[in-house]
Amino acid sequence: MKTIVEVKNLVKRFPIGAGSFTALRNVNLEFGEGEFAGLVGPSGSGKTTLLNIIGSLDIPSEGEVVVLSKSIGKLTPKQAAQLRKEELGFIFQSYNLLPVYTVFENVEFPLLLLDMTAEERKKRVMETLEWVGLTDKVKSRPAQLSGGECQRVAIARAMVKRPNLVLADEPTANLDSKNSHNILQTMEKINKELKTSFIFATHDEKVIGYLKRIIRLQDGNVVEDKVIS
Ligand SMILES: Nc1ncnc2c1ncn2[C@@H]1O[C@H](COP(=O)(O)OP(=O)(O)O)[C@@H](O)[C@H]1O
Ligand SMILES: [Mg+2]
Repeated sequence: MKTIVEVKNLVKRFPIGAGSFTALRNVNLEFGEGEFAGLVGPSGSGKTTLLNIIGSLDIPSEGEVVVLSKSIGKLTPKQAAQLRKEELGFIFQSYNLLPVYTVFENVEFPLLLLDMTAEERKKRVMETLEWVGLTDKVKSRPAQLSGGECQRVAIARAMVKRPNLVLADEPTANLDSKNSHNILQTMEKINKELKTSFIFATHDEKVIGYLKRIIRLQDGNVVEDKVIS
């Protein structure tokens, strides 16, 4: 299996007053192509911090994180933005949809940064909305959708570029049980059919039930890393 993420001796400290708080302590991990893995642990254990560094939204204090052959700490802000724009998909707890845009426009948005014609974009957007079962809502705006539907739009927006890696931080936090299972099944299908790798940060048992690999964090340490067969 090709390695797509390598975390080596990663330490992350946040400055607090005159001192600092250590959120990640010497973390070592590798992720291969096609993983459906989760960073799991109680609130404050470092899940989001690690996911943000893998997503080039933050940088290591010590050690190295290599994502798709790029060393996160060594990228200029412009190179980091390029990596996010071209290779990564993000799904957040709060959906982060643009309220004045339609479903179609929200999903099309990441493609506007790429070199594609309007026709190519439309085809891609509609194909992606079909996966998440929202082709009948293209003209709706986020306020007209349920939480589950909003999160499916967010999944489509993350997937529309066909990224190699999708990072999902507590994607079910605002969803009821039925919608949670629904979006997890959608992501599972994308993982199987497109071989897209997913890394979750979650403490939701429903999400954990779908994971093929569970990486347990506690106080900034990896305390368990197990593959589910
Ligand atoms: N920007 C920051 N400044 C200071 N402390 C932070 C910052 N971000 C996170 N932390 C601290 O790091 C720890 C881990 O946070 P986080 O990664 O968000 O945990 P989790 O996602 O597992 O709930 C927490 O104690 C949190 O308060
Ligand atoms: Mg978090």
